[in-house]
Amino acid sequence: MTIRAVVRGVGHYLPARVVPNAEFAARIDTSDEWIKSRSGIERRHFAAEGELTSDLATHAARAALADAGIDAGALDAIIVATSTPDLTFPSVATMVQAKLGMTRGFAFDVQAVCAGFVYALTTANALIAAGQAARILVIGAETFSRLMDWDDRSTSVLFGDGAGALVLEGQPGAGTSADRGVLATDLNSDGRFQDLLYVDGGTSTGTTGHLRMQGKEVFRHAIEKLAETAHRSLEKAGLSADDVDWIVPHQANLRIITGTAQKMGVPMNRVVVTVQDHGNTSAASIPLALSVGRARGQIKPGDLIVTEAIGGGLAWGSVVLRW
Ligand code: UT7
Repeated sequence: MTIRAVVRGVGHYLPARVVPNAEFAARIDTSDEWIKSRSGIERRHFAAEGELTSDLATHAARAALADAGIDAGALDAIIVATSTPDLTFPSVATMVQAKLGMTRGFAFDVQAVCAGFVYALTTANALIAAGQAARILVIGAETFSRLMDWDDRSTSVLFGDGAGALVLEGQPGAGTSADRGVLATDLNSDGRFQDLLYVDGGTSTGTTGHLRMQGKEVFRHAIEKLAETAHRSLEKAGLSADDVDWIVPHQANLRIITGTAQKMGVPMNRVVVTVQDHGNTSAASIPLALSVGRARGQIKPGDLIVTEAIGGGLAWGSVVLRW
């Protein structure tokens, strides 16, 4: 018997304010046409003043717990993937723990920028497989609107705020690729590329800082590394791209999403795409897409899903799971 980390519940939260491309075009030298054709983004959500990452995360957590039909007291752990914590410390995860009224177990953040949710899911899977926890709430939550340099048209039009969450539960499996739950994971990073995407603030400056990105260079790495990691985790699971029901990719750029699917040989009608409505929500984008994909009726029990993401670090990776 193998213990598998199975998805028991999923949920998401998007802040109320929707910002269409036209709002940027009215303020800086850009256009709806440029943003749409270069990135696929049509609109994004921005958190209200005073609405923090832990608030978004808690809303998504409550939705996932309700979907799972359990309350927070039944959890052993909370892991939040975020690069936009309310404070430098304590972790957003402990803030969510308090907001949910959970007084036992443990909570911590994972910081791997846009690959954060893949890292958090891999960590949660390892904890469940090792018998350290039976039920883990895994959240991706971000308020990237707070890192934007609003005069920089090459970055400010691309990002949005949001949160998504999964309840993972250890359940017995047969140890085959027909099992439900996480089947394989693959993580990578290469710190030589840290200058391609970073925030120019922190303890070295005493400020929060702004996001800086060499978009074209990140793009150059993305498709190759994403297709490669997806292939590797499918191989570890003893599966191939033909077995995939849904690619649920990090939602940064529609051209990266289509290029990666093409390189993997998976048609676009088997890819969950939300980038047009959310923009790039960094670590929140995959759980948001899983929740929206399920709500749309795309993702169904038993479906084989590949998630893949790349971002600052560079850090990238993928997870193969059966829903
Ligand atoms: O999630 C983390 C990982 N991040 C990513 O995956 C992002 C990866 N990169 C990308 O998505 C794309 O590179 C971008 C969407 C950021 C940019 O698309 P691109 O096709 O690589 O455009 P570019 O950066 O080469 O810029 C083309 C032109 C430039 O003008 P010149 O030099 O050709 O005259 C830019 O100055 O577009 C200009 N430009 C804009 N024009 C109108 C840049 N931003 C804008 C803008 N509106 N907002």
